[in-house]
Amino acid sequence: MFINFWYPVIRSADLGTTPQRVRILAHDFVVFRDAAGKAAVLSDTCVHRGGSLSGGKCMEDGTVRCPYHGWRFDRDGHCTRIPSLGINAKIPARARVDAYPVEERYGIVHAFLGDLPEAERPPILEIFEAGDPAWRSTVVSFDVPYHYERSIENGLDPAHNEYVHTTHGFQGEREQTYKVGDLVPERVTEWGPGFLHTYDAPPLTKSVLRFSRRKGGQMQAGSGTCGPNQMWTYIRISPTKAMNQYLFEAPIDETHTRVFLVSYRNIAFFRSGLKAKLNNWMDRKIHERNMFVAGQDIAVVTQVQPKLTPPSTARELMMPADKVIAQYRDKLDEWERKGWRIDMPRLKRDLERGNVIYAIPSPGRRESRSWVLEATPLVPATDPGKVSQLAAV
Ligand code: FES
Ligand SMILES: [Fe+2]
Repeated sequence: MFINFWYPVIRSADLGTTPQRVRILAHDFVVFRDAAGKAAVLSDTCVHRGGSLSGGKCMEDGTVRCPYHGWRFDRDGHCTRIPSLGINAKIPARARVDAYPVEERYGIVHAFLGDLPEAERPPILEIFEAGDPAWRSTVVSFDVPYHYERSIENGLDPAHNEYVHTTHGFQGEREQTYKVGDLVPERVTEWGPGFLHTYDAPPLTKSVLRFSRRKGGQMQAGSGTCGPNQMWTYIRISPTKAMNQYLFEAPIDETHTRVFLVSYRNIAFFRSGLKAKLNNWMDRKIHERNMFVAGQDIAVVTQVQPKLTPPSTARELMMPADKVIAQYRDKLDEWERKGWRIDMPRLKRDLERGNVIYAIPSPGRRESRSWVLEATPLVPATDPGKVSQLAAV
């Protein structure tokens, strides 16, 4: 798991006037809306004596108030009030928690969990059709009981469709003729690989799946990544009809992942506002279809061993169809060399002792080194030109 990337925190629609605790990268965060309604994400551990800020209250002045002794923290993580000191008391500079850059996009609150300055941050995966009235979108989230990298790799894997998905493949019935075609590079950036390929799709039969009225034949599809945890998947049903799906994944810990699925389609909806009810019904049908397909992935990937991807590719026998997965792993190695990988063995060992809690370092740590909570342990950088701020401290 890596710091210095954008992670989905909560669906915008699920964030109201109470603070909520969210676990990402094996750390706890509080997410809340300030007085202006803007989402804020802070480290959940109060620096006074360890209260959980998410158990507190959102105040009219835009702060979140710790439930233990009432310290208030604003969206920048600064403590604005310590009640035990009395009114108008001076607040010590160290009375602050890590606060993370936040952007609300595509119906999701995203937080940048890391300490990079703005100009150096990787992007949130762009959805080019967002805002285009020719497309309609839905956003859902669900949890899966496995490591996020296993989940992303499953999405980058063109060879599983034939066996796992009744909607995409023939379940091994045509072994004489089946072969994965060429993987053509698509949307490749410094933040991740991507590909498109053409394959034979079966006609859709079950009622919920027949929705797109696909009669079978050649289809184009592909996927790619942006950072370790964001993925696009294009499913081109015909040259003009498509379903584009975007996965924003939050590793809860090493064996649990919260998946946010943003599904865009330029089919199966009415553009007229008068058909709102019908569109909502179609959204539900699309959601059922997506979860039917996701359920097939979940059933298989839950059983994959080892739970984490092996440290050496020699411990798996990769084929040309796994090429993009290998490229994704190369990117992970690159980010590890920059010093962005969390040292999970050490973190787990320390947390087990029960007398230490860490925070993911925020950009504020570049301005001052005086913080109450220690920054989470990272695998030391080996790329001398790109040493993370934290590794250098
Ligand atoms: S622990 Fe938060 S105010 Fe005391
Ligand atoms: Fe799949």
